[in-house]
Amino acid sequence: MVKFICKKPGKKSIAILKRDEKVISPSYAREYSFVFKKGKGSYVYDVDNRKYLDFAAGIAVNNIGHANPEVIKAIKKQIPLGLHAAFGDFYAELPVIFTENLLKFVPKNFQKVFLSNSGTESIEAAYKLARWHTKKKYVIAFANCFHGRTMGSLSMTNSKPVQRERFSPFLPVKHIPYPYVYRMPFKNEADCTNYCINKIEKTIRYVKGNVAAIFMEPIQGEGGYIVPPKNFPKEIRKICNDHNILFCDDEVQAGCYRTGKFLAIENFNTLPDIISLSKAIGGGIPLGATLASQKVMNWSPGSHSNTFGGNLVACTAGIATLDYMKKHNLGENAAKIGKYILKRLDEIKEKYEIIGDVRGLGLMIGVELVKNKRTKEHAIKERSSILCKAQEKGLILLPAGVSTIRICPPLIITKKEAEQGLNILEDSLNKR
Ligand SMILES: Cc1ncc(COP(=O)(O)O)c(C=O)c1O
Repeated sequence: MVKFICKKPGKKSIAILKRDEKVISPSYAREYSFVFKKGKGSYVYDVDNRKYLDFAAGIAVNNIGHANPEVIKAIKKQIPLGLHAAFGDFYAELPVIFTENLLKFVPKNFQKVFLSNSGTESIEAAYKLARWHTKKKYVIAFANCFHGRTMGSLSMTNSKPVQRERFSPFLPVKHIPYPYVYRMPFKNEADCTNYCINKIEKTIRYVKGNVAAIFMEPIQGEGGYIVPPKNFPKEIRKICNDHNILFCDDEVQAGCYRTGKFLAIENFNTLPDIISLSKAIGGGIPLGATLASQKVMNWSPGSHSNTFGGNLVACTAGIATLDYMKKHNLGENAAKIGKYILKRLDEIKEKYEIIGDVRGLGLMIGVELVKNKRTKEHAIKERSSILCKAQEKGLILLPAGVSTIRICPPLIITKKEAEQGLNILEDSLNKR
């Protein structure tokens, strides 16, 4: 039988849930029984025609809103001309245009791009490039990080034990604590930073400097929407410079203006060596990109390639998506509405014992739930019941980390829609 995590799905939803259970891999961890029918802007509808405000955006994919008309128009124009140009073997103009345009969104230090289809592939490319370029063996990643689920990225991913169970042996990765200020026993951010940086220094010494790269999410996503101290990425940059290590910045979830800036790392006034992008960059079509300087991306023909990288429909969608993001100042809207949401959540936090921490940048906001503000014991069951209540009231939310609610709506969201979502969230806190 289908395990209904939330109550009362409609008749049509139930029928699809039953069919899904028969044929779809059980490895997907569905949060609740929402069955998508269509989306428009910041709203989605289930197959029973129930309308929901979307505070999940397909986990930070639908930054430009559902069914964006400009992306649809671009795709429709391309479809009769061709879908697949075998970009790994031949040449085509669309992937080149997409890449040229993408490079205009990032600092001039980046001149070369490898194209792929997903977040994990954009990380695999970064990982292989770092190993190839430096000829070194280890990489450093962080506790609670999520970089994907193929074997290279999974060797780093460790936000939940279930993601790694039975999959070892892994590639040579050393894990270091991420500066999770709210849960670390330090007096201030500087002590927290120093603790993690010392651990990295020790690890580099332990492996005799044989470190190709440090992989970091500028804001941890799956791990719990954790924002590091302001100077932490700069300290990582410094270590990388000192030890000839590449700084690999995973922007798969935090990138594409989610935090107000095109790259989340730009909020921290530093620059990485390799950037991985995906999720929002295709406007809903699978697309991944790995960026580096010409000097770093110097691998030889045949050292890395794929079948679908540079896919024509994906690149057309990517071009239209970037245009839309720029034309509609989505970074500014993310920063403005994000500030408003954070302010309201800070007020809500004062009223409810269950809210331990509110943190975020732009529209990447985490609300960490605890049983008790002093002990900070995770409120796991309570979170499930709040997510369910919210869904019943017409708001789609997703969890992150052990007991955090993630708030990542489309970046086109209006203040009125944000207000509507926050009212439902507060109501769900009251009625769980
Ligand atoms: C930060 C980060 N990196 C990588 C990935 C992997 O992306 P994908 O699921 O497209 O492989 C994700 C997915 O959630 C992510 O959040």
